[in-house]
Amino acid sequence: MSNMAPATMPHKSGTTDPDWWRGATIYQIYPRSFQDSNGDGIGDLPGIAQRMPYIASLGVDAIWISPFFASPMKDFGYDVSDYCDVDPMFGTLADFDALVVEAHAHGLKVMIDLVLSHTSDQHLWYQESSANRTNDKADWYVWADPKPDGTPPNNWLSIFGGPAWTWCPAREQYYLHNFLKSQPDLNFHNPDVQDALLDATRFWLDRGVDGFRLDTINFYFADKELRDNPPLPPEKRNDTIAPRVNPYNHQDHVHSKNQPENIAFLERFRALLDEYGARAAVGEVGDAQKGLEILGDYTSGDDRMHMCYAFEFLAKDPLTAKSVVDVMHRLDSNAPDGWACWAFSNHDVMRHATRWNLTPAAQRAYVSMMVALRGTLCLYQGEELGLQEADVAFEDLQDPYGIEFWPEFKGRDGCRTPMVWENTNLNGGFSDAKPWLPVSHEHLHHSVQSQEDDPAALLHHYRRALAFRKAQPALLKGAHSDLKATGNVLSLHRTHAGAEIFCAINLSDSPSTIDMPAGTWAALAAELGSTGAGADNKLHLGPWQPCFAVKKN
Ligand code: BGC
Ligand code: MG
Repeated sequence: MSNMAPATMPHKSGTTDPDWWRGATIYQIYPRSFQDSNGDGIGDLPGIAQRMPYIASLGVDAIWISPFFASPMKDFGYDVSDYCDVDPMFGTLADFDALVVEAHAHGLKVMIDLVLSHTSDQHLWYQESSANRTNDKADWYVWADPKPDGTPPNNWLSIFGGPAWTWCPAREQYYLHNFLKSQPDLNFHNPDVQDALLDATRFWLDRGVDGFRLDTINFYFADKELRDNPPLPPEKRNDTIAPRVNPYNHQDHVHSKNQPENIAFLERFRALLDEYGARAAVGEVGDAQKGLEILGDYTSGDDRMHMCYAFEFLAKDPLTAKSVVDVMHRLDSNAPDGWACWAFSNHDVMRHATRWNLTPAAQRAYVSMMVALRGTLCLYQGEELGLQEADVAFEDLQDPYGIEFWPEFKGRDGCRTPMVWENTNLNGGFSDAKPWLPVSHEHLHHSVQSQEDDPAALLHHYRRALAFRKAQPALLKGAHSDLKATGNVLSLHRTHAGAEIFCAINLSDSPSTIDMPAGTWAALAAELGSTGAGADNKLHLGPWQPCFAVKKN
């Protein structure tokens, strides 16, 4: 492995607009399940490179690739054992460089997923740190003596089940892990740890990446005094970041995450990115109660994160006009100059088509709504095909989280099954070999191939919706105002550089009528099924129908 960026690697990608990320659409790729190129049943980097024309055809601006770094794969790559190398299962550094060249040639930015909060227990840093209490890296992880009775130092819980502490006989101490016990948490209070992580970040910047998705960004620091978390009363619990049956929800995580010291590290991270020009970072903020508040803290000004990934639209309950308005109002009051990244689906939650029990018409309406929102958008591979959550049998389960809480919570395998490219092939064109998770039989009817040939397919609606957004600077970068829920109809205005767009979406399967705002409006987006006001100056929306209109001066 070399630290030198290869000569063929353009240091900067195509455009130099430092604001490219604002309002952009990011396509999330889960590399294990996108495209296998070498017949081992596991997706890989050359597979992603081969599919670049498809990704570009969606009209997205960037890809975010979930982790492909060296890893024992206990948490499928979110347990990194070498930040500066590609896991052989996914390919090589040269494959990564080729992928970046290919993406840039298709006008796509490349964002990679840095998991800085914890490493794998196989990482050399942890191997050294855990050997004894006197080594050079003795303080690189969060170590603590037991209580006098031998139990862990405090009451913190792991999200994946059980206490957040595991005993290390060699040190006769406990170490902290917010996730699996094979994912020890790094000690961010130690500046050497921060420096090492920033060096790893620089390694990828030098290879030409355009940005980062930062995993569990609000978990970086733990309370120096390791104080107990207070209990969270039942009425305040929700299942935004952990399923209802997880006792993690019973605590108010005031000491195990969201520590004030994090801001200074985020500023160091941003300063590094700014050395490289048009780069962007999106931080994943996992917090069931204070997510939007933290998003505000982390994205305000221009010296922290560019944007934070919000969990609000990943919630279990279907989005309603009212809930969207509430979220946007809360965002405006917590983060007036902050910037959110919105997603309906990802590799951690049940696919939204299933989670919200959506018909094809409803799926169309939700993406039409998404393109109207202020913020950056993130699509998860397969949602453009309308994929439902796959039913994965217990024997096929891979995710340790699902194995722990089965069957009340079935884990994350159902949203991680392979992409379906062709309907004629048993494995959907994903792989010639038995895939690491079975291809859902039901998904085969929704393959890319079958939708390409069907003008009425959801895939084309996604393309049209993204193209519509991209042609309207007010939707990409504009302010939003007059957010309203009138029954099931969400309406809002977006304004930018003198242009004003009115958006209304009927989020229900029955017709709805609302008043058209004052002024003269020209209809837009007929290709999305948008309609304009009737002769009575009222807007009569059919089931799931949108209205997009631009104000005439
Ligand atoms: C990732 C998960 C992962 C966890 C621990 C997350 O929020 O998205 O997939 O298991 O962080 O790294
Ligand atoms: Mg492979």
